[in-house]
Amino acid sequence: MKKMTLASMDIAEHKREDLKRIFPEVFSEERIDFDQLKRVLGDWVASDAERFGLNWPGKAECMKIIQKPSSATLKPLRDESVHFDATENLFIEGENLEVLKLLQRAYFGKVKMISIDPPYNTGKEFIYPDKYCEELKTYLAYTGQVDGDGRKFSTNVDTDGRYHSRWLNMMYPRLYIARNLLREDGVIFVNIDDNEVHHLRMVMDLIFGEENFVGNIAWKKTSGDNKPSFAFTHDNIVIYGKTSNQLPRVRLTGPQRLQYKNPDNDPRGDWAQTDYRSRWTKNERPNLYYAITQPNTKEKIFPDTHTKSTRVWGCEKNVHKENERNGLVWWGKDGLAKEPKRKRFLFDHRGVNTRSVWDDAGTNDSASGELAELFPECRSIFDNPKPISLLKKIISIASDKSYIVLDFFAGSATTAHAVMQLNAEDGGKRKYICVQLPEPTNEKSEAHKAGYETIADIAKERIRRAAAKIEDELNGQLDLNGNGQLDLGFKAFKLDSSNFRIWDGDVEDTDALIEQLELQVDRIDKEGSAEDILYEILLNAGLPLTAKIEKQVVEEKEVFSIADGEIRVCLERELTTELFDALAKASPSQVICLDEAFYLNDELKVNAGVIFKFYATANETEMVFKTI
Ligand SMILES: C[S@@+](CC[C@H](N)C(=O)[O-])C[C@H]1O[C@@H](n2cnc3c(N)ncnc32)[C@H](O)[C@@H]1O
Repeated sequence: MKKMTLASMDIAEHKREDLKRIFPEVFSEERIDFDQLKRVLGDWVASDAERFGLNWPGKAECMKIIQKPSSATLKPLRDESVHFDATENLFIEGENLEVLKLLQRAYFGKVKMISIDPPYNTGKEFIYPDKYCEELKTYLAYTGQVDGDGRKFSTNVDTDGRYHSRWLNMMYPRLYIARNLLREDGVIFVNIDDNEVHHLRMVMDLIFGEENFVGNIAWKKTSGDNKPSFAFTHDNIVIYGKTSNQLPRVRLTGPQRLQYKNPDNDPRGDWAQTDYRSRWTKNERPNLYYAITQPNTKEKIFPDTHTKSTRVWGCEKNVHKENERNGLVWWGKDGLAKEPKRKRFLFDHRGVNTRSVWDDAGTNDSASGELAELFPECRSIFDNPKPISLLKKIISIASDKSYIVLDFFAGSATTAHAVMQLNAEDGGKRKYICVQLPEPTNEKSEAHKAGYETIADIAKERIRRAAAKIEDELNGQLDLNGNGQLDLGFKAFKLDSSNFRIWDGDVEDTDALIEQLELQVDRIDKEGSAEDILYEILLNAGLPLTAKIEKQVVEEKEVFSIADGEIRVCLERELTTELFDALAKASPSQVICLDEAFYLNDELKVNAGVIFKFYATANETEMVFKTI
């Protein structure tokens, strides 16, 4: 019988395991022998006092922040969600550092693409304060979930001093932890302007490795601004791969894709008509000057029979014959055209490579227009959203269509909108995870007056309205119930304190310690619903927040079967050996019950242990019985 850990993944432990795998010889009695590691690495150890690298006040503290596990939870918000039980999209309201920590167990190595648009550090935006050891308390104070005690939240203004350091202290832990979530072939896109692009590149080199730098896209965001001497018309989109600096070639989209059709129902699929000629003249390539017979009119056609063009055919006569046999020569729908065209199939197209200048992906103005269309009652609901076409262009750079896109600075949820829109257009099954702080809207803002108290509220409403618009545009052509072809729903969660009493190892006086011990008898902390507790268990067991949960009655007790029975959870306070027998017989990988159900009942504990051991041996399975 094991005790379930109520904390996010131990990130340092994970790194130690990685090191152990590569250098087992440097570990002795579970400690690292650094001298041995230096010997193994040879000349690669930097020992000079002067080293190349990015340093700033607070960098060392960042590592402590990264390593401190989160003991918070994500509370499901069924009423704010759409198709809660069927959707695979997630919207999480919360401080992203805590949320990223909580996602580590379930989404480690699962995300194909991260696309973020963090605060640019222009001196105007809010920067979440990093109080190194009390992130959750600070967060709960900020969101009014517990009484605040004077903690200060402010914008990062350049008169503060340490202006860049504060920004780096905010970005470094988040990027570091986010990298863990990427798949090995995963890729991250970060929007940034020239205020911090140089620091961003260096901090990304530190975390992702400069060998995994893919490129820096200049996205034309406006045609001009009103600065006196220099117009900043672009933003940067910095791209790094987790393990590679290569991007897949992009499938054709837009006008290029529209050239591919199938007017003759060719079983090979869509194709485009291309020129049958080359760029050469008769003098340069006399072998390409010959007569082609029109199959229907039987006319003999030379390259200059019907045009004044001096260009000759694009292939030699024998290749032309081969093209005819392979059905690659097109004479128009009626078969009577005077000149042939070459059929080029879409499946043959290698795609296009990503260019470093984007001037066709919408602008700041078009993005504001898109939001205004969704929120006609409010002239400016959110400052500086990104255009949907920009996000669609980013998201299209991936070789498959059914991966997870993560945006942990979601703002007005343009990423979620773009994922739904793109899936509607190309039949993809991409899913999103969006994280957004419930940053209060300015009391004087139109958004606030329209009833949106936080940016997270705006984002959720945008997703709902965008989904309705897409549904409307598709006009019932697809099954939109969230369990069919197009997932327009989302499951909403909010960051909250644990449903369980967490042992506080920092208490010093005896009375506080006794109080702690007494509290542990009944570990369920507050009025959390069974669903709240189940999702906390799900997170700690490393299962995705979209895992299926079914309620069953087993031996007269309420049991939750998670992920098709992989885990069974019983939150009843009185348990029986009959129940253990039935649960163990089904051989799930884990059974989880409340610790307090065994309070002062050692006999029940022993019986449970015996029953689970018996069935694990009989069924030759690894079955873990945990209490919480
Ligand atoms: C530049 S905006 C993103 C805009 C977004 N791309 C769009 O199109 O709407 C950055 C967002 O990150 C949010 N943010 C800042 N710090 C955060 C944190 N620690 N956790 C979660 N969100 C945060 C801000 O509230 C802001 O809405």
